[in-house]
Amino acid sequence: MGSQTFSLSGPLRGRLRVPGDKSISHRALMFASLAVGESTIEGLLEGEDVLATAAAMRQLGAEIVRGDDSVWRVHGAGLGSLLEPHQALDMGNSGTSTRLLMGLLASHGFLATFVGDASLSGRPMNRVIEPLSLMGASFEASSGGTLPLLLRGALPAVPIRYRLPVASAQVKSAVLLAGLNTPGITTVIEPVATRDHTERMLAGFGATLEIGEENGERVIAIHGEADLRPQHVVVPGDPSSAAFFIVAALIVPGSDLVIENVGMNATRSGIIEALRQMGGNIEALDPREVGGEPVADLHVRHSPLTGTQIDPALAPSMIDEFPVLFVAAALADGKTVTTGLEELRVKESDRLATMAAALTLAGARVEEKEDGLAIHGTGGEPLPGTPDGASVETKLDHRIAMSMAVAGLVSSGGVTVDDTSPIATSFPTFMDLLAKARA
Ligand code: S3P
Repeated sequence: MGSQTFSLSGPLRGRLRVPGDKSISHRALMFASLAVGESTIEGLLEGEDVLATAAAMRQLGAEIVRGDDSVWRVHGAGLGSLLEPHQALDMGNSGTSTRLLMGLLASHGFLATFVGDASLSGRPMNRVIEPLSLMGASFEASSGGTLPLLLRGALPAVPIRYRLPVASAQVKSAVLLAGLNTPGITTVIEPVATRDHTERMLAGFGATLEIGEENGERVIAIHGEADLRPQHVVVPGDPSSAAFFIVAALIVPGSDLVIENVGMNATRSGIIEALRQMGGNIEALDPREVGGEPVADLHVRHSPLTGTQIDPALAPSMIDEFPVLFVAAALADGKTVTTGLEELRVKESDRLATMAAALTLAGARVEEKEDGLAIHGTGGEPLPGTPDGASVETKLDHRIAMSMAVAGLVSSGGVTVDDTSPIATSFPTFMDLLAKARA
């Protein structure tokens, strides 16, 4: 456990590049492991969550090595040819690794045990257990449908048509991945669109998908027993990691920062829209395509922010960015209200409760509601900071640690974070980049 204090900062300046997208990195390793032959991955996020996926895919028979050129080379075992893992698959802190792999293994005829850290072991898995059971897999989970759990895959599994009861890209992806090794066509219906990296990348690897719309809902059909071909994947920078630097540059006076190569997929970029709505000066430069995903360089300048009402319809496209949006709101002029955020209660921590407690301890005015926070901003004045000897609780949640680090940059007394080690799950270079931008 490393506690650390973040204190009032001078302007953030210069150019920086955030590491590869976490969602895309997990998927690149998984799909490359299913294609027979060598795939290469450039820009892979080398964070603990993604390394947990790499370790699991090795246990399942893929050969995965990192070259000296930081390009990852994956020799896939082939769809349907994965090996039964003889040891438990240790998913660490990673919900994405867990839920996507549960889906993939649900249509392989063997047993697999999933374990994880204290945070992951409290997170709900029934949301994937339910559809995967309809496909024929069976599960023995810990009470409340949590890890550790044992999965018994079905061979053959049966295709289903499944309408998502929660807006979750992980659940959507779990069912689509189970459908990959299932005869026939598996269909997922999304009442609200969530990140579409699975669909984009599977199509790139040669799977057949049909994407349409019925009654305003997105319908994704995948043809089973796919033949995946090896690919060269280039992973764009993670907009969820960029968000910490976007907000930091907006709220630290005098800042003028360019964040290069940021993923701009519309299913991920809600934070930019929300911050612009608050008055944030964010310019997207040189929009282009990298590896089948839109990217741009973001030029961000310090801006006076105004409190606002965030449209709950934006939530799926910025679901991981609310902790840092709450920090922006704490510095805005007036009140910011967020609603429709029940899902935040089942992330790496209960992000409504954890952020309400953390920001309150740092001196912000926050009201916690069942489905969101209402935050009364300082109008640009620094926050007081955490009291002497007190520190905010991270609860094993990387995004809480980084959000409160950003809050510290605009606090007169500094913000002490109890444990910064979880940052390594998604953004191992966060501290270095922060130091560079402050220099
Ligand atoms: C992810 C989906 C989201 C997100 C998570 C990554 C993915 O989770 O919060 O960080 O890669 O599919 P949910 O599916 O639970 O919304």
